[in-house]
Amino acid sequence: MSNNNSTNKHEIVEKNVGLMAILTVFAISFGALVEITPLMFQDDTTKPVEGLRPLTALEMEGRDIYVREGCYNCHSQMIRPFRDEVERYGHYSVAGESVWDHPFQWGSKRTGPDLARVGGRYSDDWHYAHLIDPRSVVPESNMPGYPWLEENVLDGKLTAKKLEVFKNFGVPYTDEDIKNAQQAVQGKTEMEALIAYLQQLGTHLK
Ligand code: HEC
Repeated sequence: MSNNNSTNKHEIVEKNVGLMAILTVFAISFGALVEITPLMFQDDTTKPVEGLRPLTALEMEGRDIYVREGCYNCHSQMIRPFRDEVERYGHYSVAGESVWDHPFQWGSKRTGPDLARVGGRYSDDWHYAHLIDPRSVVPESNMPGYPWLEENVLDGKLTAKKLEVFKNFGVPYTDEDIKNAQQAVQGKTEMEALIAYLQQLGTHLK
């Protein structure tokens, strides 16, 4: 019967596993292409947000200390676009904020709060007290203290190299930045560097 034509065609697929498998793979591949291809051409996933600036030499050293001490084991830097997160932490994270972060520190482990917008939320003194002994300012905290950061002094021998490497990744450091890098951090404590890094987190999005 001619009005059953389309049903019959469907039956051909349903009764032929091989054909069904091929068409399924085709459908999934097509869907994936539709989802992924536009991302390759979308500027806002690869271009820095307006107002983004490279980390200063001191902040760059602070970032390395953040990674060295494994802060990411308990802290994410990625505010998801959900109402509860935005109300607690501020504007959700956008890709253009972390295009110069190599490797990015998004993470997903949250023993402690997200830090993507912690910059400016507390004073330097608060961070200092908190990093020496978290329970001195947050009695119920289970974050470890990092008192040695106050004793370790930076010599800045590798700072210029670090900026150079990031410049190769496309971060717009000037020759001037690189030339002055060692001088900018020499004699500063690791504590100062880490706090400088924390205080700029998430402050660039306008
Ligand atoms: C074992 C898990 C753990 C590790 C490791 C850890 N933290 Fe925390 N952190 C916490 C917890 C839990 C809190 C919430 C209680 C508090 O404020 O102390 C916290 C809070 C914070 C806060 C305050 C955030 C806010 O919005 O109130 C900052 C800043 C912070 N941590 C920075 C760091 C840095 C920098 C490091 C690495 C040097 C680090 N943390 C390592 C668990 C951790």
